[in-house]
Amino acid sequence: MPKMINLMVACAENRVMGRANKLPWRIPEDLKFFHEETAGRTIVLGRICYETWPRAREDGRRLVVVSSNASLAREGVRVAASVSEALGIAEAMPGEIYVNGGERIFEEVLALNRPMRLHLTLVHAEVEGDRYFPEWRHLAWRETARRESADAHYRYTFLTLER
Ligand SMILES: NC(=O)c1ccc[n+]([C@@H]2O[C@H](COP(=O)([O-])OP(=O)(O)OC[C@H]3O[C@@H](n4cnc5c(N)ncnc54)[C@H](OP(=O)(O)O)[C@@H]3O)[C@@H](O)[C@H]2O)c1
Repeated sequence: MPKMINLMVACAENRVMGRANKLPWRIPEDLKFFHEETAGRTIVLGRICYETWPRAREDGRRLVVVSSNASLAREGVRVAASVSEALGIAEAMPGEIYVNGGERIFEEVLALNRPMRLHLTLVHAEVEGDRYFPEWRHLAWRETARRESADAHYRYTFLTLER
């Protein structure tokens, strides 16, 4: 039985999750949730996500970066040339697997037929951007948790979905 894959994403109602290599919003409560949930985990992520996340290597995270640039490897950072290679490396590392994107990586992982848990922060807005979380709503998820919240700028829902 392969390990559970956890996908971590915050996206808008129109599925936008990124703009110009950044998040399209600043939602402190979601950032806190993201950092706490991923601390100490084995994480598969794309090269841009890795390079634009200053705290990626902190808090005991073990990283598997998907990239053609093998020279990114260092202590706590493995490099894989494909998503399947990254998942193979992560399978042999401690704990469940966390997938943090970006776009193509989420697409490939969502298409897999294996157990997965989606930690989705759904931001109740239509937002402009250039990176999208793939359509997930047609897949057969079971909702295991839901919490509504808001700040001065956005309303958002923390959802946990499994399939
Ligand atoms: N809101 C959220 O929860 C969330 C989550 C994730 C990302 N984002 C946003 O999305 C953007 C970053 O994501 P992104 O999609 O642009 O980039 P990304 O996936 O982080 O990085 C892209 C690079 O990763 C490698 N790569 C990605 N998929 C690959 C595959 N299937 N096979 C082989 N290599 C692959 C390639 O690296 P090389 O060029 O080195 O070969 C590619 O150029 C940012 O705006 C970020 O804020 C938001």
